[in-house]
Amino acid sequence: MAIGGYNQLSLTCLNTKLDVEAYQFQSARAALYAYLSATKVKTLYVPNYICDSIFPALESLNIEVEFYSINEQLLPEKSLKLIRKSCCKVLLVNYFGLLNKKIKELITSEPELYVIDNSQALFCEHIEGTTSIYSPRKFLGIPDGGLLRTSKHINMPKEFFDASKYTGHLLLRASGYAPEGYTMFLDAEQALESFTPKRMSVISEYLIKCTDIRVIKEKRQRNYELLYTRFNSLNQLQLPIHDQIPLCYPLKLAFKVDQICKQLIDKAIYLPRYWCSKYSGEVGQDMFETTLFLPIDERLDTEQIELIIESVNNMMALK
Ligand SMILES: Cc1ncc(COP(=O)(O)O)c(C=O)c1O
Repeated sequence: MAIGGYNQLSLTCLNTKLDVEAYQFQSARAALYAYLSATKVKTLYVPNYICDSIFPALESLNIEVEFYSINEQLLPEKSLKLIRKSCCKVLLVNYFGLLNKKIKELITSEPELYVIDNSQALFCEHIEGTTSIYSPRKFLGIPDGGLLRTSKHINMPKEFFDASKYTGHLLLRASGYAPEGYTMFLDAEQALESFTPKRMSVISEYLIKCTDIRVIKEKRQRNYELLYTRFNSLNQLQLPIHDQIPLCYPLKLAFKVDQICKQLIDKAIYLPRYWCSKYSGEVGQDMFETTLFLPIDERLDTEQIELIIESVNNMMALK
């Protein structure tokens, strides 16, 4: 450790580690790339509702992508057991971190066929026998990060991702300057478009060490339950309630939500839209058009959750 000299951020190190058995990369897509390039996978079955960011990595590895349809429960529409087994894997997305139980049921007979995309499910445990990827920066204030759990041996790259230019948005946001940090956030995300695997940055590793995961889990769970209680009867999605620590509360309505999203921005309530993609099937397109992905993260107290509920209710009443 260096002594004296210029000053540093004053954070308390709690020695938090996410998953000691996981290989750590700069992003989930880099983790997927590292796994696929270490295996002989030639074809990846991918749901027709997913974030486009994974496709460049698949293209560069010459992986054949076969889309499969999902049903309204966001699970494969047809049984995937009949697919050609050799050199094939099936990517299952744990949407919003809310499908863990269903995924466990689905994979029981041949777990090794599946890669579970837990990018939206940081707090869902890896299922033995499967391979899984995670994207912790969607849940934590870190600039980069992607985890891979697999029984396959992975040769780790030597180089670390350099996140030193990609932390400004986190500091601005923490200081209460969300709009001012937005372009920096986009720059940081753009830096992750390069999927050649690198090790997760030392900055992310340190920030994770200083994160109180217990508080994050408790608050997410509480906020999710609050939104569930208020919106469940209206929600077109059937969601689980007990023991969930998801990414967000997805509220699927019977009409398009563009207008509500715009009105919420005017109230400084920013919602992501998952996902606008030319590869989406009917269910995916409908999810994109009619779902409000309401935030539940640890920054939000009960009062702010009540504000979200009131704002959404008022806007729906005006429809
Ligand atoms: C389901 C899913 N898979 C993979 C990814 C890629 O994650 P990363 O940005 O960490 O590469 C995302 C990103 O949004 C995602 O939502």
